Amino acid sequence: MPLDPLEDFVRRLPKAELHLHIEGTLEPELMFALAQRNGLPMAYPSVEALRAAYDFSNLQDFLDIYYQGAAVLLTCEDFHDLGMAYFRRLAADGGVHAEIFFDPQTHTHRGVGMDVVIEGLLSAMDAAETSLGVTSRLILCFLRHLDEADAFATLEAAKPWLSRLTGVGLDSSELGHPPAKFARVLAAARDLGLKVMVHAGEEGPPDYVWEAVDLIKVDRIDHGNRALEDDKLVRRLITDQTTLTVCPLSNLKLCVVQDLRSHPLKKMLELGLAATVNSDDPAYFGGYIVDNYVETARALSLSRSDLVQLARNSFTGSFLPQAEKAAWLSKLDSISLI
Ligand code: ADE
Ligand code: ZN
Repeated sequence: MPLDPLEDFVRRLPKAELHLHIEGTLEPELMFALAQRNGLPMAYPSVEALRAAYDFSNLQDFLDIYYQGAAVLLTCEDFHDLGMAYFRRLAADGGVHAEIFFDPQTHTHRGVGMDVVIEGLLSAMDAAETSLGVTSRLILCFLRHLDEADAFATLEAAKPWLSRLTGVGLDSSELGHPPAKFARVLAAARDLGLKVMVHAGEEGPPDYVWEAVDLIKVDRIDHGNRALEDDKLVRRLITDQTTLTVCPLSNLKLCVVQDLRSHPLKKMLELGLAATVNSDDPAYFGGYIVDNYVETARALSLSRSDLVQLARNSFTGSFLPQAEKAAWLSKLDSISLI
């Protein structure tokens, strides 16, 4: 098959992925294999039947099936295999760096130790750097449908690995769980030297994004789509150059947008917002990072220079050291647009 020029261009762009839930990379084939390895029953008779269930009307629909899927992850080896499968796909997509989220409470609440989860993921991250040349960072997410005390206990349990954690995030059911609910635990994490980000404005109102900015003083906003409903907030995000980790195919699958042609990404770029493109939970949403760039570019008629801008934003918004950011940006400067 001849190479598609747009896809080839995107694949060759060095890029970082900044919004990726590692549990959301669990492909049905691996889920079945891990269930078998661990002697666990599956609620679906086949890979095809499971994929057919990936038909979501909103975030909660997805989360219910996503937490169920994560139940096959039991051992260090499982988390290692999960991580490696993702890093291989990222490398094949021309991704050079990833800042991955994990949801420890999803596992510790099932009796899987924090050590099992973190050691398994760290071993995959180390192996990916050695064997694929892909660098990565680990970000611990608190589940916002749970309470503050549980988040504090989770932070405490993760302290032995503090030096290998880069940040904390806030994910799961957004509506009814504003960032303010977690202001104290996110501040405690920051005092430990961790970066702080929250999912905001995916389904939640602009007020949640304001809280993220003014109260939590986040380093990045995950999603941020609904910020566009508030002009003053947009001006603030532009002035601060707050990175928005936008996830177009996720937005489509979770009905945050009805059609990719009405996705706000192009508008975000035109306004000068620091938007990036990411895959969120690619095993559930039908596409990894190249698919997200390419399908959005087609739907919104993004130019090659827009695509380079998105890749640039992925490095400026990353938590890489300045020198590494600069090296990737200078590589992007040398990319021909024709
Ligand atoms: N957990 C995994 N994916 C998520 C998303 N898109 N929003 C909130 N929580 C999540
Ligand atoms: Zn997410």
